[in-house]
Amino acid sequence: MDPLLDYSDKVVLITGAASGFGELLAHEFSARGARLVLGDIYENGVETVASQLPGPAAAMVCDVRREDNCQAMVEAAIELYGQLDIAINNAGIVQSLTPFEDSDSEVVEQQMAVNVNGVLYGMKHQLRAMKEQGNGVILNVSSAAGLAAAPKMAIYAASKHAVIGLTKTAAAEYAKLGVRVNAVCPFFTLTPMVTDSNLAPGKTSAELESSLSRSTPMKRLANPEEIVNVMLLLCSPGNTFMTGQAIAVDGGLSAL
Ligand SMILES: NC(=O)c1ccc[n+]([C@@H]2O[C@H](COP(=O)([O-])OP(=O)(O)OC[C@H]3O[C@@H](n4cnc5c(N)ncnc54)[C@H](O)[C@@H]3O)[C@@H](O)[C@H]2O)c1
Repeated sequence: MDPLLDYSDKVVLITGAASGFGELLAHEFSARGARLVLGDIYENGVETVASQLPGPAAAMVCDVRREDNCQAMVEAAIELYGQLDIAINNAGIVQSLTPFEDSDSEVVEQQMAVNVNGVLYGMKHQLRAMKEQGNGVILNVSSAAGLAAAPKMAIYAASKHAVIGLTKTAAAEYAKLGVRVNAVCPFFTLTPMVTDSNLAPGKTSAELESSLSRSTPMKRLANPEEIVNVMLLLCSPGNTFMTGQAIAVDGGLSAL
């Protein structure tokens, strides 16, 4: 295997691993030799994913809104495998397209609890473990909506901008301790978050895809593999001097 994509014996923690990017990441890391701790709020889903993998994988119920659940995932990695090399804070939820002035307080609380608190709680315990062992890699899943305006998605945009703030701050604090922290910022991608969602009530999925595609130079949405491939590269054992970055994978949107 090319050493740049060889994850043999690396211990990788992934939140939101029952679906979409998290599920595909679990398959890609496992195929490259990693030992996994997978968490998701959806118990059957995460257990099914773990049972399909070629290598060792522990499946856990983890609601990232709860700090004790995030801590338990880190403890499981240490207890089962003795280390935590890579943590991917991927669990997230999206809001329906809504004009700013109609922002709903319940949606604000849900978005912040999962997309911001969930990443913060995860990082807190991952950083402690990585500091103790003197190395580690954290990859947070932000969004194109974390880098620039996301019309009709104000709350989601705020939550994903916050993920970049957490990423940069932890990167600066922990760089000298051997821990790298980066964020990936995908444009709309054909995972269940988009294909099965209530993102735009009243629109068919073809209408939604066509309207979302218009804003990016490639004039299409991403396939999940196109994002997950970049996530693997960001976690690569050969990627040793990059930290504190928010990497757009957006079909050219951020170049406009
Ligand atoms: N698909 C896109 O267009 C897109 C674009 C940019 C960023 N993202 C981000 O990528 C990440 C993964 O999204 P996806 O597209 O794979 O979506 P998805 O809906 O397919 O998967 C998200 C997973 O997170 C889990 N989850 C939800 N709430 C949780 C909680 N409280 N605790 C633990 N797990 C929880 C779900 O059960 C699900 O398995 C999210 O952070 C999302 O915001 C997605």
